[in-house]
Amino acid sequence: MGGSTHFSVFLLVAIILLCSSSKTVNATCYASEKQALMDFKKDLEDPFGRLSSWIHDVDCCKWEGVVCSNRSGRVIQLHLQSPVRVIGYFGVPEFQDEIVVESPLSGKISHSLKNLTHLRYLDLSQNNFSGIPIPSFFGSLRSLRYLNLSRAGFQGMVPYQLGNLSSLRTLSIGGQSSSLRDVSDLQVDNLQWLAGLSNLERLGMSRVNLSTASNWLEVINTIPSLVEIHLSSCQLDLISHHHHGRDAFVFHANFSSLTVLDLSRNFFGHLIPRWIFGLTALASLDLSENWFEGPLPRDLWNLTSLKHLDLSTNQLNGSLPDELIHLNNLISLNLRWNQFEGFLEGIWNWSSLASLDLSVNNFATFLPSQLSTLTALISLNLGANQFRGSIPSSIANISNLQHLDLSFNNLNSSLPSEVFTLKDLITLGASRNHLNGPIPSTVGNCTKLEHLALSHNALSSIPSNLGRCTKLKYVSLGRQYSSLSDASALQVDNLQWMVGLSNLEHLDMSGVNLSTASNWLEVINMIPSLVEIYLSYCQLDLISHHLGRDTFVFHANFSSLTVLDLSGNFLGYVIPRWIFGLSALASLDLSFTSFEGPLPRDLRNLTSLKLLDLSSTI
Ligand SMILES: *[C@@H]1O[C@H](CO)[C@@H](O)[C@H](O)[C@H]1NC(C)=O
Ligand SMILES: *[C@@H]1O[C@H](CO)[C@@H](O)[C@H](O)[C@H]1NC(C)=O
Ligand SMILES: *[C@@H]1O[C@H](CO)[C@@H](O)[C@H](O)[C@H]1NC(C)=O
Ligand SMILES: *[C@@H]1O[C@H](CO)[C@@H](O)[C@H](O)[C@H]1NC(C)=O
Ligand SMILES: *[C@@H]1O[C@H](CO)[C@@H](O)[C@H](O)[C@H]1NC(C)=O
Ligand SMILES: *[C@@H]1O[C@H](CO)[C@@H](O)[C@H](O)[C@H]1NC(C)=O
Ligand SMILES: *[C@@H]1O[C@H](CO)[C@@H](O)[C@H](O)[C@H]1NC(C)=O
Ligand SMILES: *[C@@H]1O[C@H](CO)[C@@H](O)[C@H](O)[C@H]1NC(C)=O
Ligand SMILES: *[C@@H]1O[C@H](CO)[C@@H](O)[C@H](O)[C@H]1NC(C)=O
Ligand SMILES: *[C@@H]1O[C@H](CO)[C@@H](O)[C@H](O)[C@H]1NC(C)=O
Ligand SMILES: *[C@@H]1O[C@H](CO)[C@@H](O)[C@H](O)[C@H]1NC(C)=O
Ligand SMILES: *[C@@H]1O[C@H](CO)[C@@H](O)[C@H](O)[C@H]1NC(C)=O
Repeated sequence: MGGSTHFSVFLLVAIILLCSSSKTVNATCYASEKQALMDFKKDLEDPFGRLSSWIHDVDCCKWEGVVCSNRSGRVIQLHLQSPVRVIGYFGVPEFQDEIVVESPLSGKISHSLKNLTHLRYLDLSQNNFSGIPIPSFFGSLRSLRYLNLSRAGFQGMVPYQLGNLSSLRTLSIGGQSSSLRDVSDLQVDNLQWLAGLSNLERLGMSRVNLSTASNWLEVINTIPSLVEIHLSSCQLDLISHHHHGRDAFVFHANFSSLTVLDLSRNFFGHLIPRWIFGLTALASLDLSENWFEGPLPRDLWNLTSLKHLDLSTNQLNGSLPDELIHLNNLISLNLRWNQFEGFLEGIWNWSSLASLDLSVNNFATFLPSQLSTLTALISLNLGANQFRGSIPSSIANISNLQHLDLSFNNLNSSLPSEVFTLKDLITLGASRNHLNGPIPSTVGNCTKLEHLALSHNALSSIPSNLGRCTKLKYVSLGRQYSSLSDASALQVDNLQWMVGLSNLEHLDMSGVNLSTASNWLEVINMIPSLVEIYLSYCQLDLISHHLGRDTFVFHANFSSLTVLDLSGNFLGYVIPRWIFGLSALASLDLSFTSFEGPLPRDLRNLTSLKLLDLSSTI
């Protein structure tokens, strides 16, 4: 009997489940909620038709961006963030900084949203509500657990009514720290209302002006549930209201579960506040651009869970202590733009470290061969220090390396051929050192190479194997010369190999002797992708093989060219006519050439020209 009761209960439950799941499929929205959404749409401007599926005859649960509860049919989520496109900053992989909003919504935000009483999730980020404040009635959407209004163009005072959203787990307003161009005109005078969000886990208020919200830290400290805090570029002031001087600042952080803390770009000054080092659960800490000074504090070693540490653009100094080794969970470490010096101690054996940036510091030692113990590295930037000696060939052991920057140092060896066994290499920068000897022909093994910067060295030859690196976009091999008498050791007899570089955009071979590479122009003309050409002081000769002045008809295929620098060459007496066909040209440098006579009328065709240098022509 017991068994059959259990069986019928089971059957009943199964039927109920079946019924409710079939309701799932057919869930239709409430008429009142559909009407509320229609009213909401009416007040919006939607030039890109993102809400074109929001039509009366269609169940609103099927509208783009609308999510209904499977059980109740109520609208519970609105996903209305605009898609974006991230534009990489040419040649510098880490600055992927321009974010373009693809199809923003704008206009007004109707109060009708209040009728969506079950709304738990509202994402209006990355739209363009420029000129209007965040509606204070959002404070009455009491079911909200997720509210994302970041990068949406809202302006003015953030309404304190948001403090009534006591179920909120995520609040994101303002901008994002990762984008340089991101701005926000939001302001908070007093952050007290935030204390009402007693369940808040993730707080993002980057780029909200908190300069007068002097109690920000005390308020945040009343919310122990916090796991993420993003307060980048908030004009926070740590000093003025903790006026007991540098060391007496005792504060205990109650948000001890915090895993992400971003306080970058606030210009705190002086010492890194000690309470930060008590947050032992931290996995990500960004204190960049704050003008902190002094040596790395010992308490830093307590943060053994750290995976990402960014202390770049401060005034930290001293050497890297052995104890750094305790941070052996690090995936990325950025100490760029400080005043660190001494030996590279304590950074070895980090088996997870994928990105290390020690650029723009005062390191002046030899490059240690222990670098090769960082076998997980993908990106290594040691540029703009005073490292000297040779590039250790053991660097080839870092077999996943994609980005290596050693430029602006005092390295004076040859380029070890082992470097080019790094088959995943995308970026190699070693400009402005004293490197000598040939560029090894093994460079041709780096078929993923996109960015090669070896200019301003004392290299002796360029191998034709370079032509096998067909992904190259950026090649800089020259050095700056100021007069023709500056003889260059670097000579290229034939540029034919370059023809294969069909992705090349930037070519700088200034100062390389191309006097015997008589086909230079024909070769370059087979690379229509070129955008910038720098061939100053290359001993180029245009005349000899192009039979005199006016008969020279040539059509330039590189029609996207914006920069052409042919200064310091003997190119005949008449400016070649094809140059005036380069209608995208913004910068033209023909100084120190042999051209003579009046300015040609065709110069007027270069309507994009911003910089024209014809000085010291004859
Ligand atoms: C929203 O609710 C209010 C009060 O319940 C009601 O008066 C109003 O008509 C509703 N609006 C819509 C669009 O349903
Ligand atoms: C509703 O059910 C579908 C299908 O089972 C599922 O994919 C979806 O995530 C559910 N939606 C919610 C809000 O739970
Ligand atoms: C945002 O809207 C303002 C005014 O409505 C307009 O001037 C601006 O160009 C828009 N920005 C974008 C990115 O659409
Ligand atoms: C808020 O939206 C932005 C842009 O859509 C997104 O990048 C960010 O991760 C969101 N914030 C949170 C906490 O989900
Ligand atoms: C928050 O809600 C309470 C109760 O509904 C209400 O009395 C109060 O005015 C609201 N406060 C704000 C700031 O909206
Ligand atoms: C931030 O707010 C303060 C106080 O209102 C104001 O003086 C300051 O100019 C604001 N900063 C910016 C960058 O708008
Ligand atoms: C922080 O926690 C301490 C002890 O755990 C408690 O005494 C204090 O009131 C808390 N501070 C705040 C601002 O909640
Ligand atoms: C770091 O750990 C040491 C040793 O356990 C301890 O004495 C010190 O107070 C800790 N620092 C902080 C800021 O909690
Ligand atoms: C580090 O900087 C501080 C202040 O900026 C200075 O007093 C100290 O001498 C510097 N230390 C070293 C090792 O350069
Ligand atoms: C790094 O690891 C090697 C071998 O795994 C070990 O011999 C060496 O002592 C370690 N170095 C440090 C500084 O821990
Ligand atoms: C690298 O290139 C050289 C010369 O071009 C060639 O002999 C060698 O086999 C290549 N090595 C690898 C690992 O591909
Ligand atoms: C410059 O423009 C004029 C008028 O459009 C045209 O006749 C001439 O061919 C152009 N010159 C060059 C070099 O393209």
